[in-house]
Amino acid sequence: MSQDSKTNQQWGGRFSEPVDAFVQRFTASIQFDQRLYRHDIRGSIAHATMLEKAGVLSADELKAIIDGLNEVQNEIESGQVEWSIPLEDVHMNVESRLTDKIGITGKKLHTGRSRNDQVATDIRLWLRDEIDLISAELTRLQSGMVELAAKESDTIMPGFTHLQTAQPVTFGHHLLAWNEMLERDYSRLLDCRKRLNQSPLGAAALAGTTYPIDRELTASLLGFDHPTRNSLDSVSDRDFAIEFCAFSAMLLTHLSRMSEELILWTSAQFNFINLPDRFCTGSSIMPQKKNPDVPELVRGKTGRVNGHLIALLTLMKSQPLAYNKDNQEDKEPLFDAVDTVKDCLRAFADMIPAIEARKESMYESAKRGFSTATDLADYLVRKGIPFRDSHEIVGKSVAYGIQTGKDLSEMSLDELRQFSTEITDDVFKVLTLEGSVAARNHIGGTAPEQVRRAAAAAGETLGKRS
Ligand code: ARG
Repeated sequence: MSQDSKTNQQWGGRFSEPVDAFVQRFTASIQFDQRLYRHDIRGSIAHATMLEKAGVLSADELKAIIDGLNEVQNEIESGQVEWSIPLEDVHMNVESRLTDKIGITGKKLHTGRSRNDQVATDIRLWLRDEIDLISAELTRLQSGMVELAAKESDTIMPGFTHLQTAQPVTFGHHLLAWNEMLERDYSRLLDCRKRLNQSPLGAAALAGTTYPIDRELTASLLGFDHPTRNSLDSVSDRDFAIEFCAFSAMLLTHLSRMSEELILWTSAQFNFINLPDRFCTGSSIMPQKKNPDVPELVRGKTGRVNGHLIALLTLMKSQPLAYNKDNQEDKEPLFDAVDTVKDCLRAFADMIPAIEARKESMYESAKRGFSTATDLADYLVRKGIPFRDSHEIVGKSVAYGIQTGKDLSEMSLDELRQFSTEITDDVFKVLTLEGSVAARNHIGGTAPEQVRRAAAAAGETLGKRS
């Protein structure tokens, strides 16, 4: 990065001395906003195209500008451009390079525009592309999850409340619960994209411009749904960045919950799943270790993304209209949120389909912990006993089971009948894990049949996404 210091060529007219070198560095954003260059150039081409239609630029000038900008893009991509700190940001770096190439015509590009509407346009364009990549990756993750759910629709595991064994569920059902979280995240992301997709270009510095601009044209050239409605709001609004970070925080919160379960399940104490070695790492001191680093890191990255959301909310809090330099601080949190979300989704989309369920171990665990106690209570209700009384009866049977070290399904009929003579030998059907899950056969229930149906419906929904 170069720091050759002249008075800034784009705005130095009223300045009598060069800006202090530290202040230049402090106020510059080129160190991080260079990643917007393609969208900056795309916005400039749309702006120039509109200026020519409006009679502000000649056809020759437009051609020189477009060719020049395309060349600048090639130079950036082939590493020939050294970004300059005195030129502050990506907008002025690109424009200055253009002017070096095509001369005086380059200086006409900024007619009827300000960096304030320019940067607002660039971030929206950039974020829109990133959102499209992220929604494709989210869909890939969900598809893998739903496929695994269908495959594991019969696999029985303990369901937990308070992390204590509660009732048996199917592993497929658990995976589909995760998918519900992601489905909501997807709809939040689409919602964010919808509000983001408006063109601030033409708002200029804050009040609009005196040139006969056509904002509908630039909006449509850039694929925006329509121009924004108020110039003051256009240059100051960063709601879309906050909304994206809110989506990210919620997504990472969900991924952290899944991570937590994966971490527990891979432990010797649970031993519910195996994560292939390629998603784990070892310990430099304990040779036996295989650590679930990928889910642990994803869990950890949640803090970072939550931080970005708070950073942006705090950045915008109490800002008077319209543009303030504070807004330059929107970029690093937003960029990092995007990078983090992309990495975490990629890790999960690769890892989830590779989960190997340790079915016997899940099954054994569900058998411990009296997970069919509610089924026994429901059975007694069907025999005419009020639920509260049946709850009491089963509670006593469980206490007996704890004393004798027997699960309910391991007790003899006589043992069970000590607690209620309504119990007959048809009770054993309801005390099995298979009977327990199969009985919960309604929309949203854990029965294998329902899980298969829900997985098919989820697959269909995913298939409809373009
Ligand atoms: N680099 C600035 C930003 O990121 C661009 C807009 C600067 N506008 C200004 N009037 N100084 O926000």
